[in-house]
Amino acid sequence: MVTKVPDKIDTLFINCNIATMADNALSIIEKAALAVKGKTISWAGKEKDLPGNFKTRCQKIIDCDNGWILPGFVDCHTHLVWGGSRSNEFEMRLNGASYEKISKKGGGILSTVKATRNASKNELFAQASKRVTALLNQGVTTLEIKSGYGLDLETELKILAVIKNLDENFPLDIKATFLGAHALPPEYQNDQDGYIDLVTETMMPKVKSQGIATAVDVFCEHIAFTLPQTRKVFEKARDLRFNIKLHAEQLSDSNGAFLASEFNAMSCDHLEYLSLSGAEKMARHGVTAVLLPGAFYFLKETQKPPVETFRNLKIPMAVSTDLNPGSSPVHSMTLILNMACILFGMTCEEALLGATINGARALGLDQSKGSIETGKDADLVVWDIDKPSDLCYFAGLTLVDMVMIKGGINKKNP
Ligand code: NIG
Ligand code: FE
Repeated sequence: MVTKVPDKIDTLFINCNIATMADNALSIIEKAALAVKGKTISWAGKEKDLPGNFKTRCQKIIDCDNGWILPGFVDCHTHLVWGGSRSNEFEMRLNGASYEKISKKGGGILSTVKATRNASKNELFAQASKRVTALLNQGVTTLEIKSGYGLDLETELKILAVIKNLDENFPLDIKATFLGAHALPPEYQNDQDGYIDLVTETMMPKVKSQGIATAVDVFCEHIAFTLPQTRKVFEKARDLRFNIKLHAEQLSDSNGAFLASEFNAMSCDHLEYLSLSGAEKMARHGVTAVLLPGAFYFLKETQKPPVETFRNLKIPMAVSTDLNPGSSPVHSMTLILNMACILFGMTCEEALLGATINGARALGLDQSKGSIETGKDADLVVWDIDKPSDLCYFAGLTLVDMVMIKGGINKKNP
């Protein structure tokens, strides 16, 4: 129920409960109220402590009917701009072919590259819009999207332009990451180093000059790029002042996390095969671990990321969809929360921190996003649940009552 009170600008949520996610915990406030001024949170606390004049100063009062407000989800690792489909490979895998085998035979990432090169910007935008809408409808308010299905200058720039377009046309905050070193394109099959030169000497300077990505990522793996090649990309990223992220230790231990930490990466992602020394290095350099249970599930992996080690070393754990056509066609953060608990043994609190404040950390946005604190962006979701852990428990049920991004409700929908 929305009651209009004339004259002023704020939105006031009443009759709610809040999990603020501040101080690395759910940090619950029951029987709460929350005030938004402009784009930011101006007050959150017990409703009985609400300053007397707040209700009359508000333009809009929203009665949450005893629902819960949490910070909007930060989905910090996706590849959601792609052309074509890989459902045929899904069926091949059901018949016994492995992800690596399909990839070695020119399928996998390269089949998506072909389809993405052939797609127009409009086609890519239309396909990606459906995916962004699905995430938004399930409570995602900040999103990272990687390039990496182009593997030539023109198509990488096309994907990044589509990401920019999505950011401009959707209310979510969308951050672009350049993942030119995702796979070896067909033109360079016998010249891995030549392709890395193209990435570092041509693509990265161009991406930088166009200002269309803030971070650089690499797929460091035996089916992708080696440690020395990853180092070359990171050196260039450091020179050009890109933030650094890494697909590390997903299918084997390549010591990627060790290297990424040396470069003070914002995050290392996947990490199923991470060694203890790699984790210790991450801890020393304050690198966030991004865990991707959707890919683990979809590829039927058996080696789990070392969650207990992350806990012991106090390494922040983020969780994310990894939304992509090959290893995680998963369009729901709540399903990912469920998987993080069931498959990786995370607690509901850890999973929820992973989808909010630690997701923000993985993008270097934790000063403005990921928790409900005065002065932070008013990126909020009102949920129709009895308690926060319901978000991890119900798989496949849409529980969102309302999404607010930077103080606005659906203000930039295309
Ligand atoms: O995060 N690991 C590399 N990249 C994606 C998979 C991309 C694909 O198969 O298309 C991932 O799992
Ligand atoms: Fe990925």
